Amino acid sequence: MAFTPPFPERPQRRLPLPDLLRRARRSFLEVWLDAHFEQEVIRTRVLAQGILVCNSPASVQEAFIDQAAALERKSPQMRHALEPLLGDGLFISDGLVWKERRRTVAAVTHASRLDTLAPVMTEAAAECRAAWGALPDGTCIDVLAEMGRLAAEIICRTLFGRALGADAATAVVQAFARYQGRIGHLDMVSVLGLPDWLPRLRLGTGRDVARIHAVVDGLVGQAMAGGEASLIGAMAGATLPGSGRPMDARALRNEAATLFMAGHETTANLLAWAFYLLSQAPEAEARAVAEAQALGGRAAGWNDLPRLPYLRAVVEETLRLYPPVPLLARQAQAPLAIAGHAVARGDIVMVVPWLLHRHRRWWEAPDEFRPERFLADGPARHRHAYVPFSLGPRVCTGMGFGLAEAVIVLATLLPACRLRLAPEARVFPVCRLTLRPGEALPMLVGRR
Ligand code: HEM
Repeated sequence: MAFTPPFPERPQRRLPLPDLLRRARRSFLEVWLDAHFEQEVIRTRVLAQGILVCNSPASVQEAFIDQAAALERKSPQMRHALEPLLGDGLFISDGLVWKERRRTVAAVTHASRLDTLAPVMTEAAAECRAAWGALPDGTCIDVLAEMGRLAAEIICRTLFGRALGADAATAVVQAFARYQGRIGHLDMVSVLGLPDWLPRLRLGTGRDVARIHAVVDGLVGQAMAGGEASLIGAMAGATLPGSGRPMDARALRNEAATLFMAGHETTANLLAWAFYLLSQAPEAEARAVAEAQALGGRAAGWNDLPRLPYLRAVVEETLRLYPPVPLLARQAQAPLAIAGHAVARGDIVMVVPWLLHRHRRWWEAPDEFRPERFLADGPARHRHAYVPFSLGPRVCTGMGFGLAEAVIVLATLLPACRLRLAPEARVFPVCRLTLRPGEALPMLVGRR
């Protein structure tokens, strides 16, 4: 029997504005009406802000590929929330800076380099397996926090070198967590650019930013001097295509902070959701465990990935149901038309993976967990109806990295450890900077 994991109820009728704002404030996942899950384009205006949601493969392609140049800029709220921390880092920059850096940043995590980056994933996953294995059977762990630590370890060691001490990694992780806690969640109200009359607590972020910058500057300096293989070392050695010069220390810091932020919470949430989904779907779990057990008990590595198609399908299905970045928002830099709808300069154009991935026209049984749909012999899929990593020129540069990491971690942990949802656990999707299964995911860990 297929399992249908939780999602917010979908109102049948248009909500009065105060209700809409209240729901938006709680979680942007709650504002969508039932009808939105079958509409191809959603045109709306909330207060003064014009909004167009592209909700079909064709309109998604039109906006993010065909008209990408006019829609390159992120929404002002996304930029304002992250700028103090990331500066002109790739995630929020645009124009010339983005163009120059994009090539350099994309090159260091390119698919052709993943075989050299994956050993860090294997190593860290094996450490986590050993730590879980040492716990008494039935110990309750917060799988969301565990996966947060594991993904942060992996990206830290990749960015700054494998010799990075646990203390340095912990300092980076804690400083980022505090910052994110302070900026709160990028709720719908912020993302849409509505008037900022709802109080937003930004006090104290300056101190956190200064602390993060000090830690990251130190690590960048160390990585540049150390000669050890690291993404920062690789970026420092590259010249920018336009100026022909290397990135300066500030640019390296901003890109390090960007890669850290973009590359750990997303994968951590994906892994937490995958453990949860498998714990509720015995047939899928048995198949996933059997596939991983065929590796013979060793930690999974890069060369094992072709032997793990079902785990890859579990990862892809998890990304469909709970896309870690559930909303992609851009601000139009020029008037344009999408799917016959006029978009004015300054309007917000969105692609909402949360809607698109559960759209009744593009998916069969869209709310059910069915990893098989992503196997090679699964049903045909619409191109651009599945966009967990975005698409077009701003597609995630870490897509291959994140997918490899998720499969390696699952294949290493699943055969050794059985995770069961703790009786007090309340799993429900909430949207902070990313989409997560609540504030914590308590599960009981035991040996298989
Ligand atoms: C499952 C894991 C991940 C998911 C679901 C994910 C998703 C995304 C999405 C949706 C975007 C585009 C956002 C937008 O268009 O507004 C993005 C951008 C980005 N991601 Fe990822 N990501 C993941 C892992 C990673 C990893 C591991 C790295 C780095 C190693 C990374 C680095 C980046 C960077 C640098 C950008 C900005 C690209 C640009 O604007 O040119 N991501 N990611």
